[in-house]
Amino acid sequence: MQQTLAIIKPDAVERNLIGKIIAMIENDNFKIKRMKLIQMSKNLAETFYYVHKGKPFYDKLIKYMTSGDIVALVLEKENAVVSYRQLIGTTDPSTADENTIRKLYALDKSYNSVHGSDSIENAKIEISIIFDN
Ligand code: RTP
Ligand code: MG
Repeated sequence: MQQTLAIIKPDAVERNLIGKIIAMIENDNFKIKRMKLIQMSKNLAETFYYVHKGKPFYDKLIKYMTSGDIVALVLEKENAVVSYRQLIGTTDPSTADENTIRKLYALDKSYNSVHGSDSIENAKIEISIIFDN
């Protein structure tokens, strides 16, 4: 069975959306294998988003992801990586499909409420970064 890493980001935790987002995840038949609520340190956020270092939105992203609590989840399902990316929708909620998490809850392209791993390989790396320390 495949695993992916999901994060409920600070804007969504702040707006009391943890329960609604987890309900959507469970309704889509993912099994939650691990879960924790933390505030990311700058160091952890920089490690997690190292692929985006140098991009125009990088500093804003690190500030956002360290600005409040997040909930990290390891999700398991057949084809979990692609399936969860479908459930969350595109990075920019204005182009996301109806009934995706981002279409329903994201504020904009920057503050977009949830994260999902984009490949099986990155899912393994991200699960290890978040849960092995
Ligand atoms: P994520 O990694 O969080 O699941 O999002 P994603 O794959 O859909 O998007 P990615 O390109 O990996 O970008 C990571 C996060 O950076 C913020 N971002 N802001 N203002 C902007 O142009 C911009 N572009 C990206 C978002 O929070 C995005 O989810
Ligand atoms: Mg990404």
